[in-house]
Amino acid sequence: MVLVLGRIITVASGKGGVGKTTLVANLGIALAQKNFKVLLVDADIAMANLSLLLGMQASPITLHDVLVGESSVEDAIYEGPAGLNFIPSGLSLESYRRVDTERLESVVREVASQYDFILLDAPPGIEKNVMSALAAADEILLITIPTSPSIADVLKTKIVSQRLGSSPIGIVVNFRMGEKGEIKDDDIMKMLELPVYGNIPFDLEVRRSFMQQNVQPVMVRKPTTPAAIAMRKIAAKVAGIKAHEFLAEEKKQGFLSRLLAMFKRGKKKPSK
Ligand SMILES: Nc1ncnc2c1ncn2[C@@H]1O[C@H](COP(=O)(O)OP(=O)(O)OP(=O)(O)O)[C@@H](O)[C@H]1O
Ligand SMILES: [Mg+2]
Repeated sequence: MVLVLGRIITVASGKGGVGKTTLVANLGIALAQKNFKVLLVDADIAMANLSLLLGMQASPITLHDVLVGESSVEDAIYEGPAGLNFIPSGLSLESYRRVDTERLESVVREVASQYDFILLDAPPGIEKNVMSALAAADEILLITIPTSPSIADVLKTKIVSQRLGSSPIGIVVNFRMGEKGEIKDDDIMKMLELPVYGNIPFDLEVRRSFMQQNVQPVMVRKPTTPAAIAMRKIAAKVAGIKAHEFLAEEKKQGFLSRLLAMFKRGKKKPSK
């Protein structure tokens, strides 16, 4: 019997702090909202924060336990927003020290036939753990900010992932502010020889998701904010679906919130 594996995609950058974890969480939710079966894997095993961003509590069994061979992968799978599944990484430095990330690929492949998309959140840089996250996937979605140092670093990640036998499929540009001096999409495409999958604007609502008492990714908390819309368009591109199908939800919500706003306005007490 031939098992059909889901698409295993690692989101990687080069520089740190450019939005990998944010993209993995929100892309996963956008795909799950469209009824794809999605598994997110926190492959940033040293500085795990995917589960924090998903608003989940500390998990008793994590990827660390699976990688050291003390738990089965099924036991480390949890349910997250929009019904997606995710495998958290452990927060303890003690267990991190014992982990061997070379097993990551076989762990991911063990469950890949149960999903349409398996998205891995890579650490920054180019160290061993990053290589394991790149090697574990078939496809690599790169993310950068529109400045030369970040693009130079993501180019190194692209080259390393090709050497490891994975295929870089496209580039996401985050923190677009439309300022003079930002590198334009055309130039990014030429430099990296990859299609731009989308631009995510700088949007305070993304950061605010972390600042709430109940942390919730922006795709859940504010699905109509510009960054969420941009990430839904990227999800459409990844899935090979027309963007308007992903945005239908937004139109519905837009209509409902307009209706709600009208209702609230109607109920306002007249000002004196
Ligand atoms: N489009 C955006 N607009 C505003 N803030 C953003 C945007 N994208 C990400 N952020 C914020 O930037 C910070 C870094 O994002 P994130 O943690 O996703 O980056 P990362 O690449 O995963 O970082 P690391 O390399 O440390 O793992 C977070 O506080 C996040 O909320
Ligand atoms: Mg991260």
